[in-house]
Amino acid sequence: MSLMFASLTFTPTTLGSSFTISSRRSNSSVMSALRSNSCSVLTTFQKECDTPTPYLRNVADAIADDMLTGLAVEGGRDLEMILTYVDALPSGKEEGLFYALDLGGTNFRVHSVQLGGMKERVIATKSETISIPQELKIGTSEELFGFIASKLANFVAKEDIPARFRLEQGRKREIGFTFSFPVNQTSIDSGTVIQWTKGFKVSGMEGKNVVACLNEAMEAHGLNMRVSALVNDAVGTLAGARYLDEDVMMGVILGTGTNACYVDQKDAIPKLQSISSSGTMVINTEWGGFSKILPRTIFDQEMDEASVNRGEHLYEKMVSGMYLGEIGRRVLLQMCESSHLFGQSVPVKLSIPFALSTKDLCKMQEDKTDDLLIVGSILNKSLEVEANLEARRRVSEVCDAVVKRGGRLAGAGIVAIVEKIEKDTKRLSSGQRTVVAIDGILYGNNPLYQMYLQDAVVELLGDKLASHIDFKHTKDLSGIGAALLAATNSIY
Ligand code: BGC
Repeated sequence: MSLMFASLTFTPTTLGSSFTISSRRSNSSVMSALRSNSCSVLTTFQKECDTPTPYLRNVADAIADDMLTGLAVEGGRDLEMILTYVDALPSGKEEGLFYALDLGGTNFRVHSVQLGGMKERVIATKSETISIPQELKIGTSEELFGFIASKLANFVAKEDIPARFRLEQGRKREIGFTFSFPVNQTSIDSGTVIQWTKGFKVSGMEGKNVVACLNEAMEAHGLNMRVSALVNDAVGTLAGARYLDEDVMMGVILGTGTNACYVDQKDAIPKLQSISSSGTMVINTEWGGFSKILPRTIFDQEMDEASVNRGEHLYEKMVSGMYLGEIGRRVLLQMCESSHLFGQSVPVKLSIPFALSTKDLCKMQEDKTDDLLIVGSILNKSLEVEANLEARRRVSEVCDAVVKRGGRLAGAGIVAIVEKIEKDTKRLSSGQRTVVAIDGILYGNNPLYQMYLQDAVVELLGDKLASHIDFKHTKDLSGIGAALLAATNSIY
């Protein structure tokens, strides 16, 4: 299905000629021509973003298809279907003081978690959020891991550790390392980067074990610590949520980037056969890499062209928080260039990549005031634009098209995984509650995104099956999940 913007790309030439013609018309006909240009950009964009149920069904089926191929062979298709080596999820018995490091979003986080076993559960947690300097995201691995280790050392130095958790002689503190990029995982505590996403491009990591990089940096900073679990953030979310609720079967991240993982039966994972075939294992789908039959517009294509990971993670670029604002900005820019959406000149700020944040796009989409006052104030503050009511209405429709498409596509991904779980377990058809734990600021902060996602799930699964699905919004559970997995995989 090709949904490209073939007939509606306004070049300066087409614009120029429309002005020549319109200069002979009255002012009001100029205005109405401009309005209709702006409408046609908007209408075409809305049409191309449309994801009716049958279309979404095709998307879910194509994702399911890629999942099966990814489970059969390494590097088979768009979805890596990474073996995580997490075959035991937290049970509640975990005990001790464990740390977690979370790298992969806008910020980097350090956590300490005191676990008291079945009776006391999580006794105390402490965490610190540190923003990652932009230059480190595209610097060398030594710089990045040196930075992480130094922040960890500061955090640990401030810790006041209760006597019961003092370290025994000859032991090291254990860490769960949440590294939220596609990794070719070779065991619970080793793996190499497959590719960078979300604007990161760190050099010097090719073929290197991510865990070894961190262990070396920690040693260099005098830290008596070792990584005992390498964990994706979706996997950390699943583990943290499962600790609280044993019906959790899926972990989903809808934040800066997107991903999902789920609990699969080992005998349904052909590429695992040589290792073991009984029990379960968490599979990290890396669904952000999905690329087929997506409703991509010219704006998606141009944004992808300008990205550091061109041609990769196309689903992520339509679904997740790093990109939605930028897609909206590109549409609005086109509407300004072709039809003076905000007056005669194109607002300077609108020409700056990423000048419109996803947070602002979502706030504008949710504006319920009659006169779209919130839209007006955001446009004014973020883009230094004065917009009349008609322009504000158009802006709000652009935002809605972007958010709706993202939410519905994410819903289709969830259905593909739920149906895979269902095929192997028959949980839903036997009326068993199945929890999808979803973390990430995009999902957490935007009720309409949540609604679009959940509507898509119900449309595709039908009311009956969908009624057994519980969408749980979790907040920052991936850190606790990683600490729990460090405990589960402790060598002591
Ligand atoms: C990465 C995933 C990660 C997701 C959410 C994606 O870009 O490929 O590994 O889980 O972002 O952080």
